[in-house]
Amino acid sequence: MDEMRILMAHMDDPDQFNIDTYERNGGYKAIRKAIGSIKPEELTEMVKQSGLRGRGGAGFSAGMKWGFIPKDPTLTKYLVCNCDESEPGTFKDRLLIINDPHQLIEGMILTSYAIGAHLAFIYCRGEFFDGIARLRETVEQAKKKGYLGKNIFGTDFSLEIIVHPGAGAYIAGEETAQLNSLEGYRATPRLKPPFPAVSGLYGKPTIINNVETLCNVVHIVNRGVEWYQSIGKPKNTGTKIFQVSGQVQRPGCYEFPLGVSLRVVLEKAGWMLPGRKFKACYPGGSSCSLLTEKDLDISMDFETLAARNSALGTASIIVMDDSADMVKVATRLMEFYQNESCGKCTPCREGTRWMVQVLRRIEAGGGTFEDLKLITGVCESMAETSFCPLAVGAAPPVISAIVEFREEFEAYIRRNPNAEKPLKMAIAYPYL
Ligand SMILES: Cc1cc2nc3c(=O)[nH]c(=O)nc-3n(C[C@H](O)[C@H](O)[C@H](O)COP(=O)(O)O)c2cc1C
Ligand code: SF4
Repeated sequence: MDEMRILMAHMDDPDQFNIDTYERNGGYKAIRKAIGSIKPEELTEMVKQSGLRGRGGAGFSAGMKWGFIPKDPTLTKYLVCNCDESEPGTFKDRLLIINDPHQLIEGMILTSYAIGAHLAFIYCRGEFFDGIARLRETVEQAKKKGYLGKNIFGTDFSLEIIVHPGAGAYIAGEETAQLNSLEGYRATPRLKPPFPAVSGLYGKPTIINNVETLCNVVHIVNRGVEWYQSIGKPKNTGTKIFQVSGQVQRPGCYEFPLGVSLRVVLEKAGWMLPGRKFKACYPGGSSCSLLTEKDLDISMDFETLAARNSALGTASIIVMDDSADMVKVATRLMEFYQNESCGKCTPCREGTRWMVQVLRRIEAGGGTFEDLKLITGVCESMAETSFCPLAVGAAPPVISAIVEFREEFEAYIRRNPNAEKPLKMAIAYPYL
C-alpha cells in the first residue's frame, strides 16, 4: 500500500499557503457548496455519517460531538481549533498550518456554520512563532476575499477567527485546560461534566476540534460522504497523517488510510538506520503502551490498538532500534510528565515525581527488585485517582517498557549489591 495524500495533497507546493494558489488548487469550493445550500444540521449529519473521528488523540466522532451543541439559535456558540500540539512525537498540525493553512480556515468556516458559531479561535502552541504568523496572515487573506467577516456569500452567516498564542504547557492541549487558558486563566483542567459542548468557553456551548479533524471536513463536503466512507476501514474511515520520528532513515509525516500496517508506515519512513534492527515503538505519541517486533503487522486503527492495550492517539510513531536503552527511555518520558504535570491534583503531581526518583535510582545502579512493584503500584494509583487524562497517559509508556523489556530493568538492578533487600521508606528518600 502506498501513501494516499488527501490532506497533504499540496504539501509540496511551496506557494500553497497563498490564497490564490489555494483557490487555483480547488480551495474554498466546499464553503461555496455548503453555505446557504446545505442546512447546518444536514452538514452535521454528513460529518456524522462519514465516520470522521477526532484526530487530536481520543478519536471521538466529530459529527456526534457537534450534535451535542444546543439547537437554540439565540445562544452564543464558539468553535476552538486545538493547535497546541505538545504530545511528544506529534508534528502534523504544524505541517498543515505552515504549508496549507487555508485548508484549516475552510474547515473551520464549515464547522462554525454547522454548529452556529460566529466567533472561532485557533489556540496555537505559543512556541510556533512561524505558525502563529502564518495563521494571522491567512485569516487576513480570507477576510479580504470575503470568506470571513459579515454575511458570508450574502447569507446571514458571519464569522471572525482569532489566532491565540498558547501558554506554553502540554496540559494546555487538554480541551478544558485550553478553555481556561483562552479565558486568561492558568491552564488547568476543568471538571467534566459539564462537557464543553454544553458549557465551554465563557460558559457557552463550545466545540473543540483538532487541526487535522477540521481539515478533513473540507474533503467530506467536496467529495461526499460515500467517498469518505470508502477510505480506511469500518469505524476507522479516512486517512491519517502518521508522524514517524526516532531511529528511522526518513522521519516525517506520511498520510495513509486508517488501518495501514505499522510495517508499511515504517518502510515508507525508510526503516531503521543501516545495520540496526527494529526494537520497539510508541504508536500514538508518548501516552500509550509500546509495540514490539511481534506487532509489526498490526493494523493502525483505533480499535485494534486499543485491543492491544495501546492506542492510536495522534498516530505519532516514536521508533527505537536495538541500540535504545529502555530504562533511559522510561526515565526520560517520566521526566516529561513530571515537568508537565499542572500540579492541580496530588496523585499526578507527587506520583510523577516519585516515579522519576525511582527510575533515576534504578538507572544509577541503586534500584531494587521491589522498585518494579513500586512503579506498578504508583502507576495504578495515579491512573485511578488523578483528575485528568495526563496522568492516565503517564503510566502505559513506563509499565509497558517494564513488561516488554523487564530483563533490561533487572540488569540495571543487579548492579546494586542490595537489590534483593525489601524496600524501607522506599519513596521517602530520593536516591539522587
Ligand atoms: C494532556 C493532554 C494534551 C492534549 N493535547 C492536545 C493537543 O495538543 N491537540 C489536540 O488536538 N488535542 C489534544 N488533547 C485532546 C483534547 O483534550 C481533545 O480531546 C481534542 O482537542 C478534541 O479534538 P478532536 O475531537 O478533533 O480530536 C490533549 C489531551 C490531553 C489529556
Ligand atoms: S492529572 Fe496532572 S495534569 Fe491533570 S489535573 Fe491532575 S496534576 Fe494536573
